[in-house]
Amino acid sequence: MTHTRKHIQLKTELPGPGSRALVARRDASMPAGFAKSTPLAIKRAHGAMVEDVDGNMLLDFTGGIGVLNVGHTPTEVVEAIRAQAGELIHISGLVATTEPHVRLAEKLCAIAPIPGPKKAMINNSGAEAVETAIATARAATGRQAIIAFEGAYHGRTLLTQSLTSKYALFKKNFGPFAPEIYRVPYPYLYRMVAADTLTDEQKVELVWESFERALVAHVMPEAVAAVIVEPVQGEGGFIPMPVEFMRRLRATCDRYGILLIADEIQCGMARTGKMFAMEHFGVSPDIITLAKSMGGGMPIAATVGRAEVMDKPHLGGLGGTYSGNPIACAASLAAIQLIEDQDLPARARHVGGIACDRLKDMQSRIDIIGDVRGLGAMLAIELVDDRASKKPLAVERTLSVVNYAARNGVLMIRCGLYQMACASCSRSSSAIAS
Ligand SMILES: Cc1ncc(COP(=O)(O)O)c(C=O)c1O
Repeated sequence: MTHTRKHIQLKTELPGPGSRALVARRDASMPAGFAKSTPLAIKRAHGAMVEDVDGNMLLDFTGGIGVLNVGHTPTEVVEAIRAQAGELIHISGLVATTEPHVRLAEKLCAIAPIPGPKKAMINNSGAEAVETAIATARAATGRQAIIAFEGAYHGRTLLTQSLTSKYALFKKNFGPFAPEIYRVPYPYLYRMVAADTLTDEQKVELVWESFERALVAHVMPEAVAAVIVEPVQGEGGFIPMPVEFMRRLRATCDRYGILLIADEIQCGMARTGKMFAMEHFGVSPDIITLAKSMGGGMPIAATVGRAEVMDKPHLGGLGGTYSGNPIACAASLAAIQLIEDQDLPARARHVGGIACDRLKDMQSRIDIIGDVRGLGAMLAIELVDDRASKKPLAVERTLSVVNYAARNGVLMIRCGLYQMACASCSRSSSAIAS
């Protein structure tokens, strides 16, 4: 542990002189398109607290964008990294086999909520895991079409960018995009027309109708390799999929031989109050993609699926130079062990309950908080002009909320389909571990 202060402590105005100087160098040396949600430069962190280069202590609600469900620099993960670094930093899984790599694959196969024999491909990033999942689904089904949802975020490589929804922020000027992707509405109940006059069941029914219509109007089911879904949309605005919708998806996939891919890169690894978000739905995916919090902060990801599906790509068709990097695998094993030993799913439910009550209380007093939603500790507030109109709050005002929080020692990020809509209070990681 590098420091022990557990509360916000501000010594300078924010950003302080050190942050300003480093951020100026960043701006001069990195492309303008690489955004940042705060003007702060961070030196070290532990648990839920981060210390900036000027010695200010801030509370981190971003958890490194959903990466730190075990908190910053947990001793067990740090030690695992240190020990492995002294033994072997890299050999490449394409050259030889290492113990941490095999143990991690075995562990993920043991815990993934998919029945029967499983196999796990270890990747470097979430986007790469999604690429692997799609390639595998195509190879396994001999079909090409992929169904993705409005509001989805699956990454920034060309294929995953094509699967990603929000155009203006993530896709502008980057096309042409990958073909054979069909986009359908996500059950974003808060924003449905006539939302106030319909029950949730009626809203789900309406969105489901449009899904079924898409299987006639846009693509026929027999051409579809996979449906890819975030059980709780992350970047799209922290929207849990209604259980009934997920069950219907599973049934439709079964009927037509379509594979169901659950992208749990953001919502997995205890954040929603279960180890895997799919455990809330009572149905299993065929393939699950993981990243972020599985590595305790190290860049690592995984594609876990039914063995018969995962074995379908040809010999040599999968892999990358760093797949199964031993340090990242050792860190991941330690992070997963920590989640299990400390029962962080239960902690996420506990922390999430407290946070949700507080946010709902704030909502009753503050008219620009239109909605409070999420699952477990994966919570967000949706900001609006006013609750009656539900008009998404202008981007400048949303950013001013995020900036106000940062200036007062709390790190947050915004998300949401409407560029201006969500100030994300991702109580994930750091809050779970604090
Ligand atoms: C649901 C989801 N899928 C995929 C990704 C892409 O992961 P990465 O940034 O590691 O490529 C993200 C990243 O935020 C995500 O939230």
